[in-house]
Amino acid sequence: MTHHLISGGAGFIGANLATSLLKDGHRVLAIDDLSRGRIETIHHLTNNPNFDFRQADCADRDALDAAIGEAEGITDVWHMAANSDIPAGIADPRIDLHQTFMTTFAILEVMKAREIPNLHFASSSAIYGDFGETMIHEDIGPLLPISNYGAMKLASEAQIRAAVEAFLSRADIFRFPNVIGVPATHGVILDFVHKLRNTPEELQVLGNGTQQKAYLHVDDLVRAMRHIAEIPGRYQLFNIGPTDDGVTVSMIAETVRDVASPSASIIFGEESRGWVGDVPRFRYSVDRLINTGWEPSLSSQEAVQRAVAEIVAQEMGR
Ligand SMILES: NC(=O)c1ccc[n+]([C@@H]2O[C@H](COP(=O)([O-])OP(=O)(O)OC[C@H]3O[C@@H](n4cnc5c(N)ncnc54)[C@H](O)[C@@H]3O)[C@@H](O)[C@H]2O)c1
Repeated sequence: MTHHLISGGAGFIGANLATSLLKDGHRVLAIDDLSRGRIETIHHLTNNPNFDFRQADCADRDALDAAIGEAEGITDVWHMAANSDIPAGIADPRIDLHQTFMTTFAILEVMKAREIPNLHFASSSAIYGDFGETMIHEDIGPLLPISNYGAMKLASEAQIRAAVEAFLSRADIFRFPNVIGVPATHGVILDFVHKLRNTPEELQVLGNGTQQKAYLHVDDLVRAMRHIAEIPGRYQLFNIGPTDDGVTVSMIAETVRDVASPSASIIFGEESRGWVGDVPRFRYSVDRLINTGWEPSLSSQEAVQRAVAEIVAQEMGR
């Protein structure tokens, strides 16, 4: 049994990771400021004696240190806290400075002071920027992110790399694209379900529906992150995703419509991207990870179908 700290532990991915670690008998301390995450997300864990939750701002070194308090023997930090509303970060860059970068900075300060050796970081495909049709593998460059979120994730990666040189025993960098499943806190499927709940006869889509992206189910993501954490080495950096080229926004809109409100008509916008900072189309290589023996259990299409059913059940109770 080892003791793990999850920042952003009441969020979508953090809650799934906590469930997985607890199932294997580990101890988990989840810390979240509840800016987006919700207590209900981790409600099913609160009776587990190996689970603890504390509310704190992980970008505030002293608040984070106080939240960890007397918790003993933490060996691993899974840093999941970040802003997950990319358009909000474009409108106000301070959101990503605080939630996406300063959380990393403060976590590293606390890890150094407390001599916590291992960091596992949720980075993003957003660090790459827009490579169009070129296959994106881990060594491609130059890295020119087009959102403040991507910029602050890349800055976080750089800060972590320097910390490996100075004091960390190990860091894993997970670069993944869109992750879907429940408990959903954000994302295109949740947006569509909310829109159809408000206007059951009409689904307005941002962009013209041709944006094509890879989607990974959260169960596959958690399995991949834990797989990478077992690979020997001081610094591991992997793209994580399905092996296909993804599905279009129009396929997602139709799948949500068919499950949530079959009689609705779908109305597309005119732009090829959903918002400023959105990468409309990209091809993502996960060969490095596949070569270590991991493989996704679902394609993008299967992940979307499963997540739509899960999110409609979450939001509409059916
Ligand atoms: N979901 C995706 O598609 C996706 C894709 C690539 C990368 N990621 C990254 O994975 C991680 C988890 O994402 P998610 O989808 O679970 O998002 P989420 O919003 O559900 O979870 C993030 C959590 O961090 C918390 N948080 C934000 N700022 C905080 C702060 N200053 N202090 C403490 N807690 C704070 C939020 O309340 C939230 O619960 C994030 O780092 C995100 O950038 C997610």
